[in-house]
Amino acid sequence: MSIQTICPNVFEVGASDPDRQMFDAFMPTPMGTTYNSYLIAGDKATCLIDPVDPMKTDVLMANLDEAGVEKLDYIVCLHTEQDHSGSLPDLLERWPDAIVIVNKKVQELLVTHIHIPAERTTVVAEGETLDLGGKTLQFHMIPFAHWPDNFTAYLQEDGVLFSSDLFGSHYASTEVFSTDSNNQRMAARQYYAEIMMPFRKQVAKHVAWTRALNPRHIAPSHGPIWYDTTKILNMYESWTSDNVKKKVIIGYVSMHGSVEAMVEKYALRLAQYGISVITRNIAASTDSLTTEVGHLASDMVDAAAIVIAASTVIVGPHPSALYLAAVVNLLKPKARYFQFLGSYGWASQAPQIVDGAMANFKGERLEAVNVMGLPNEADEAKILAAADELAKRLTEDELVG
Ligand code: FEO
Repeated sequence: MSIQTICPNVFEVGASDPDRQMFDAFMPTPMGTTYNSYLIAGDKATCLIDPVDPMKTDVLMANLDEAGVEKLDYIVCLHTEQDHSGSLPDLLERWPDAIVIVNKKVQELLVTHIHIPAERTTVVAEGETLDLGGKTLQFHMIPFAHWPDNFTAYLQEDGVLFSSDLFGSHYASTEVFSTDSNNQRMAARQYYAEIMMPFRKQVAKHVAWTRALNPRHIAPSHGPIWYDTTKILNMYESWTSDNVKKKVIIGYVSMHGSVEAMVEKYALRLAQYGISVITRNIAASTDSLTTEVGHLASDMVDAAAIVIAASTVIVGPHPSALYLAAVVNLLKPKARYFQFLGSYGWASQAPQIVDGAMANFKGERLEAVNVMGLPNEADEAKILAAADELAKRLTEDELVG
């Protein structure tokens, strides 16, 4: 992606990375990503908002050359993580007089993480403005979206909110503005799940602030700029609310078919109540673990219940199930209920071990169904009773809609 105009004298000059298939060595990014960087040419000063990933420094530099930038007065660094700050040292070498605009936390982290001298930075506080000449940036703090350091810059004259990682998506496109495609909404949801969901309550406050601000466009640090902000704000309000959908997601791993048989019986029973059920085999192939757990993470955004179903290996749950439990623990989804289904050979501690790996998950634990080998008639009755009980909870819970 080369230079793209957002509004008069405001340009996107960052880098696209359509081939990136994984982010943070954990999140599948089938649609790649972008590292957005915004250039504002004021009457008095030129300002860059967010550098890019260090792997793409050459692209950013080439874009700045193409834009004819001879003097860079300010570099606003909205967040320290290296996919945004990593090319800052090269920018500062090329423009040794540029002032790095930061908040207090970004300053601290830039010093420790990428060794930027504090004297190169100027700290701004909540509500402060930066006058570029006919272009005024106003700063607002959005801590824990998703690091303690994130803040935003609002371009008052044009109504553009530069929102750091908030409202981002891993979606590489030739179009700088959102096209309202289903794929873009899916990418935004996946991004929310893996980046913002662990901080849902804080993010809800930032969304409310953005709604009140009513920006014309929202320009995040990844993915398309939200041209019409209505859809992304509506989605974030829904995702950050306490409400969940009547939806049960089941991640399972089955060594000899017993667990798969349990999942099928349980899922079909739930479906008979009109409950939406998503089952994903997290160990079907060598790629399944990251791919299917990635899908499950997105499914967790509004699921009412999470089920982990697993075979026992030796004395504990299958390691794939523990990986899924670790992801639930990390992302802290708002699901109201959790249940374990399993089958074991001769040791039955798997439910307790999975539960112990999910201490951060605050939903209610329903009684596990853990059977020996292939489920017999009595076991099948327990599975159906468990599904009936979950269906009852979902029907009676006022937060489930
Ligand atoms: Fe896109 Fe938190 O960095």
